[in-house]
Amino acid sequence: MKTREDKPKNRYSQFFTDPLIADFMVNEVRHEGAGTFLDPAVGRGAFTCAAHRSMDVSISACEIDPSMVRNFCLSNDYDADLVCDDYLLHIYKERFDCIVCNPPYNRFQDIENRKKYRDLFKERYAVNMSGYSNLCVYFLIKSMNELSESGRCCYIIPYEFLNTGYGEVIKEYLLRSGMLEKIIKFDFRSKIFGDAITTSCILVLENRPHDKVDLITVKDVSELKKGRFENVRTYDYGDLKPEEKWLSYFGDNKKADGLKNIVKLSDFGKVSRGIATGANDFFLLSRSDIEERGLSREACVLCLTRSPDVKDAVVTGGTMQDLIDANKKVFVFDGTLAVNQEDLDYIEYGEKRGYNKKYLTGKRSPWYSIEHRETAPILITVFNRNEIKIIRNEAGVKNLTAFHGIYLKDKDAAFADIFFCYLITPLARELLYGSRREYGEGLYMFEPGDLTGADMLDLNLISDDDRNDILDIYDMIKKENSIQKADELDRIFRKYV
Ligand SMILES: C[S@@+](CC[C@H](N)C(=O)[O-])C[C@H]1O[C@@H](n2cnc3c(N)ncnc32)[C@H](O)[C@@H]1O
Repeated sequence: MKTREDKPKNRYSQFFTDPLIADFMVNEVRHEGAGTFLDPAVGRGAFTCAAHRSMDVSISACEIDPSMVRNFCLSNDYDADLVCDDYLLHIYKERFDCIVCNPPYNRFQDIENRKKYRDLFKERYAVNMSGYSNLCVYFLIKSMNELSESGRCCYIIPYEFLNTGYGEVIKEYLLRSGMLEKIIKFDFRSKIFGDAITTSCILVLENRPHDKVDLITVKDVSELKKGRFENVRTYDYGDLKPEEKWLSYFGDNKKADGLKNIVKLSDFGKVSRGIATGANDFFLLSRSDIEERGLSREACVLCLTRSPDVKDAVVTGGTMQDLIDANKKVFVFDGTLAVNQEDLDYIEYGEKRGYNKKYLTGKRSPWYSIEHRETAPILITVFNRNEIKIIRNEAGVKNLTAFHGIYLKDKDAAFADIFFCYLITPLARELLYGSRREYGEGLYMFEPGDLTGADMLDLNLISDDDRNDILDIYDMIKKENSIQKADELDRIFRKYV
C-alpha cells in the first residue's frame, strides 16, 4: 500500500503493500492442495515473497513495467514464472489455486486503453463495465475468471466501488458468481499504513458457491495480526443489493444504529440539484463583464456559482455584495429577461460562438433561458474533501450545480435557521456521511437522493426552550460568520438521540 516513503509513479499506480498486510492476504488464500499462485500486478513482489515463505506453490506473476520486472528479479531469489505484459490483455491458459493482488488504482480518466478493456470484458466475460470504472476492478473480474475450482483469491482495492455508480456492475458480478466470501474494510484509528489504506478494503473470494457474506470492519492492526475480527456482519446473498450502497451494510457507517428519534430528511423536505447552465463560459458573469458589455441588471441574476467563493456560513445581501465587489462571477445571464439592445447582442454573440448548440443549451428552448427553480433556504456542497459545507441562504439567491438546495416543507424562516443549525453539528454530519459516495483520496459527493434519504434527528421534538437557545446561537453564528458554535449546538441536539 501507499506509504509516505513510496511516492507513486502515477502511470502504473505503483504503491507497495506493507508486509503485515501481504502476509495476512496470502494467509487468506492458503488452502490444502493449493499448488499454484499468481500475483497479476507483482511490483517488487510483496505477495510472491510471502507465498514463497509460507506455501509450497509454483509462483506466477505479471508486471507491465520492465523496470519493475528488473527490480523484482534483483530482489527475489526464488523461482517465479514472471511475464512482463499488461495483465488485462495477457492470456493465461491455466487456472490458479491462489491469486493475490494489489492492482493499480487508476481512475477512469487515466486508463489509456479504457475502450479496449471495456470491449474485451464485454466479449470475454459478458460484463458491461461502466466507463467510470477504476482500473482495479478490471483486474478483479479477470482474476475471478482465472481461479481453479475451489481456488481462492484475495484483492486489496479502494472501497469506493461499494458506494459509487460504477460499482453496481461489480457488486452484481460478485453476487452472480457466488464467489464472494468476505470484505474487510479498514477503519484504522491510526494512519499506520499511510493514507491509502484508510480508504481500502480486502476482498476474499473462493471459486465455489456461497450463500453468506461477512462484512468486516477492522479498527486495529492487532485484529489483522490475530486474524480474529470484532466487527463482523453476516449477510445472506439475497440481502445484498447491487444498486445499494454497501458501506452502510458494514454497520459502522450506520451511525443511526442505537440512536433514538431518527427520521429521514425527506420527512422535512426535499433536496434538488442546482441550476446547470450548460455553458458557464457564456452564462456566468462578473460585474466588470456586465459593465463592459452594457448588459442590463434585469437579465443578470445573482447566483451562488462556485463553492470556494463562499466563505460565509450564512449568506446575506452583504455576502453577495462582497462577492460582486471582488468581481467574482456571481451573475447568471438569463436571456429571457433581456430588456436592452446589449442583452440581445449578447444572445447573438452566444449564437455566433456556438453556445446555443452545446449539450444542454441545444435541448433548452430558448437556449439562452435559465432553468426556473425556487431559491433554496439551505445549500449543501455536492463534492467535498474533508468537511461538507452547509450554507444558510438568507440572501435568497439561486445556486448552480456546485450546491444542492434543501427545500423545506415548513416555510418559516426560523425553522430554516434551526434546520441549518442542526446540519452544521457533528451529529448531523455523522448521520449524513452514511449516505455519501466515496471517490477515494478523501473526495466524496452526495446525489440529491442520497441526502433526501439520509437519517436525521426528528427536529419536531425540540422543546421551545431549546429552540430559543438554538436561535440565539444562530444569531451569533450569523454575526460572527463562523460555525465555531457547532459543538454548543451539538450538545443541545444530542439530548434528543
Ligand atoms: C499497487 S502496485 C502493487 C505492487 C505489489 N504487488 C505490491 O503489492 O506491493 C501495482 C503494480 O501493478 C503494475 N501494473 C500496473 N498496470 C499493470 C497492468 N496493466 N498489468 C500488469 N501490471 C500492472 C504496476 O507497475 C505496479 O508495480
